[in-house]
Amino acid sequence: LDDLLAEGVSGRRVLVRADLNVPLDGGTITDDGRIRASLPTIGKLAEAGARVVVTAHLGRPKGTPEPKYSLAPVAARLNELLDATVTLADDVVGASARSTVEGLADGEVALLENIRFDARETSKDEAERGAFARELAALVGAGAGPSGAVFVSDGFGVVHRKQASVYDVAKLLPAYAGGLVLAEVEVLRRLTGTPDRPYVVVLGGSKVSDKLAVIESLLPRVDKLLVGGGMCFTFMAAEGLGVGSSLLEGEMIDTCKRLLADAGEKIMLPADVKMADRFAADAVTETVLVAEMREDWMGLDIGPITAERYAAELADAGTVFWNGPMGVFEMAPFADGTRVVAQAIVDSDAYSVVGGGDSASAVRALGLPEGGFSHISTGGGASLEFLEGKDLPGIAVLEGHP
Ligand code: 3PG
Repeated sequence: LDDLLAEGVSGRRVLVRADLNVPLDGGTITDDGRIRASLPTIGKLAEAGARVVVTAHLGRPKGTPEPKYSLAPVAARLNELLDATVTLADDVVGASARSTVEGLADGEVALLENIRFDARETSKDEAERGAFARELAALVGAGAGPSGAVFVSDGFGVVHRKQASVYDVAKLLPAYAGGLVLAEVEVLRRLTGTPDRPYVVVLGGSKVSDKLAVIESLLPRVDKLLVGGGMCFTFMAAEGLGVGSSLLEGEMIDTCKRLLADAGEKIMLPADVKMADRFAADAVTETVLVAEMREDWMGLDIGPITAERYAAELADAGTVFWNGPMGVFEMAPFADGTRVVAQAIVDSDAYSVVGGGDSASAVRALGLPEGGFSHISTGGGASLEFLEGKDLPGIAVLEGHP
């Protein structure tokens, strides 16, 4: 981004891929963290006089426009937060997008409608994606020479997706990494390099299967892996414990057995859990030791003994990576485990990175100080894939560009 700003962007059209995929409750944004994280890049470009065309997705629409996935609430929030006028186009590359982009004055910002309203964005067919990417590039005026249109990749949360607006368009326009992508990569490289020891990873979330690749790649490199969230019950079942009606991935039990056999001394599992008679904020609850889980009840949070044990590990850590809540933090009775663990990270002197949309939302929803963490990543899947050591298409494609 600095190279591009040094080149000069005044009057040029800059296509920016941002990750503005925020959680919504009806039409209300419940956590605007990703929008705020995208402001510096968009703001700097607008201040420097660029005509900024932002493209982003929201949720996973099926390739056609659906009102509930409209970026309208995001455009409204961007307008409130940015010192520049933001106009939302009614479509992605159609007549509205063209006239909105053509009408941009220097320093103004256009937001295209949800890029996933066009099925070609996420197509597995390279030719289809390529055709769509050409339309996107044409929208900002590709081929206008060295002082013409450029692409800035700033949606770190989507760089693991080989999609038209992330990957293919970067081959058609001079492409630059935005400030957010650069900052995220710098932080995550610190974790894949030689992190200060002990290196403690806290993993939660609902499914072991979603996290298996990252668990396998992290285990040889970490000192401790603290497991919570829905996924801990599959590990407990692998240890032969009854888990009641808690979340369970039966087909992953053997895998968990293998992980425990290979690296059991590094993996910490709950000693107690908070159980509920049903999945509801006003459920009847009871905290039990893991050997005493009630048959028809479900575990919805780690218990206080576990939270304190995890907090003790975190107190002495040199580096911490946290992905996934410890319980159903959105419901007050099941938020304690996540709160205690998150507070322990805040209180420790460790270099700490929060990865994942849900964990980042939990930090804000629980009112924890964002400054208490060294970095809160905007990437969920992207930060996990980075830590797995995978080549991320949206980053790889930028290499070799000016
Ligand atoms: C995310 O929420 O992790 C990113 O916005 C990517 O979204 P996706 O998983 O739907 O591609």
